[in-house]
Amino acid sequence: MCGIFGYIGNNKQAADLVLTGLKSLEYRGYDSWGIAAVNEGGRILLEKKTGKIGAAEFNFKNHSRIAIGHTRWATHGGVTVANAHPHLDCTGHFALIHNGIIENYDEIKKALLKIGHRFISETDSEVAVHLLEENYKSLIKKNKTNSQDSLFVEALKITFSSFRGLNAVIVLNAKNRTFGAAKNGSPLVLGFGNKENYLASDSQAILPYTNKLYFMEDQELVLVTKDQIKVFDLISGKEKSIKPVSVSWKTETEDKGKLPHFMLKEILDQGKVIKNIVTDSDENIKKFASLISSSFGTYLVGCGTAAYACLTGTYIFSKIAKKHVNFSVASEFGYLIDFLTEKSLVIGLSQSGETIDLIDVMKKAKERGVKLGAIVNVLGSTLYRMTDNKLLLNAGVEKAVVSTKAFTAKIAHLLLIAYALTGDINKGKTELRKAVEILEELFKPSSLNAIKTLATKLYRHKNIYIIGRGISYPIALESALKIKEASYIHAEGFAGGELKHGVIALVEKGTPCLAFLPNDETYFDTLSGVMEMKARGGFIIGIGFKNHEVFDEFINSGDCQMASGIPNVVVGQLLGYYLALCHGVDPDKPRNLAKSVTVK
Ligand code: G6P
Repeated sequence: MCGIFGYIGNNKQAADLVLTGLKSLEYRGYDSWGIAAVNEGGRILLEKKTGKIGAAEFNFKNHSRIAIGHTRWATHGGVTVANAHPHLDCTGHFALIHNGIIENYDEIKKALLKIGHRFISETDSEVAVHLLEENYKSLIKKNKTNSQDSLFVEALKITFSSFRGLNAVIVLNAKNRTFGAAKNGSPLVLGFGNKENYLASDSQAILPYTNKLYFMEDQELVLVTKDQIKVFDLISGKEKSIKPVSVSWKTETEDKGKLPHFMLKEILDQGKVIKNIVTDSDENIKKFASLISSSFGTYLVGCGTAAYACLTGTYIFSKIAKKHVNFSVASEFGYLIDFLTEKSLVIGLSQSGETIDLIDVMKKAKERGVKLGAIVNVLGSTLYRMTDNKLLLNAGVEKAVVSTKAFTAKIAHLLLIAYALTGDINKGKTELRKAVEILEELFKPSSLNAIKTLATKLYRHKNIYIIGRGISYPIALESALKIKEASYIHAEGFAGGELKHGVIALVEKGTPCLAFLPNDETYFDTLSGVMEMKARGGFIIGIGFKNHEVFDEFINSGDCQMASGIPNVVVGQLLGYYLALCHGVDPDKPRNLAKSVTVK
């Protein structure tokens, strides 16, 4: 993951610009951050801190026209200042930031230690800067004729090519006052300005300055000066002619207004988001429906919350369209693709469109000639760009790390596609409109207070169990994920029928047990599970369309037929949110998580 931002140009406040860029990229990781700039004498100035950027300042005087910065999500090495990026070589010539995992870092490090390199961090990233120093030194020794820039490019090429894994590195060369960057896997975008250039892990960070962009391809290397950007092929080393694109995308900003957290704002946004989906043009929905019907095998693939949306989709397509679609967690799908053919269709679902496990497997599927589709929230993201068939979620910026509105937007789109397959898209719209009405009820202060009060009764418990059957099974999984992520309480969702096959052993007097009971064929079977938990002393919270005497608490989530997953999951989201508050957790940035996961 990790956010990356670099600036080179005439602006003497380069470090400030980089800090602003990093703030917009902090959702990629907030374990630590760091900035490197260059003073007039060519010395690298470094600022590194642990924790969120917040109201960060630097200790050095910011008069640099070149700077790079990084927000870290720790992989190799703990959350310490030493492990924060940028990392310097032994001579102070290069500052390097890295996104990805250098899988063979240990063998490279051993070799570098033997020849006297000093390491100050425990990261895999630091080996990159020392190896670059070494390769650059030996090229200089061998070759006195080539320019320093071309030796730098060559040294970076050799260095980057020695790494195993999916990586992007950006190097600030303090002597030449240039950047070099190379990429394989992790995203990097270049921004072309007027006598200034930008580099970032995400186009949104560059758009406030320029809309002339180049999205680096894998196996490319760039040399960036204030006047030009040169792109090279990483294998052959040959310069490539590239065409930047002028995009009309706007910088998407979002304000939480008077609300205390983005998570709450985004939960409350969901009525509006679904209303917009209902009134949007049907063109893309119908296009996806016809793609699915003309394919031999459709696979919905995603990670985390998006994966649960995919699983929900399998029930939606089966029930509504009598169509079997397959589901896989993206990180596992790579081990399951041997049977895909050119007739198969793989649809990647993602909020960010950058999750590496998903991108990686989509690329693998593409290599097999498989048809690809994307249902994604972020315009211009890697997933968006790599597929011909795309459906934008239009949920608006989602800032809280705990994903909410992107989930229900995915469910709403899948529901409409399934109804489009039956030729009755309007039935789907009617159900979604009903879902919006129920959400309006749920968002009334009295309902919000009821869920908040429930959270105060539950928050001291270490475990919460959640059951659901049919479409409510993935809703139980997603609700448990919200509670875990936001409040750090262990919550486990499972298929109602599985209760008696193990989990019931954990239910004792007072154990909170949530059950989703919508008005569908699962009702009575789930109710039996509820009785079984109650008989063991479980504290039962029923969520559904009608109350029952067995419930200790009841939350009315109405009835909107096949769209029932939407209000039901919103109850799970709200419970997660209020439980987070009871525990004093910032639900917008819970510990150890990142919004966009661009490492394996
Ligand atoms: C991270 C986020 C989750 C998200 C998952 C997939 O783990 O913290 O909220 O569901 O990535 O992200 P995507 O952007 O692909 O939907």
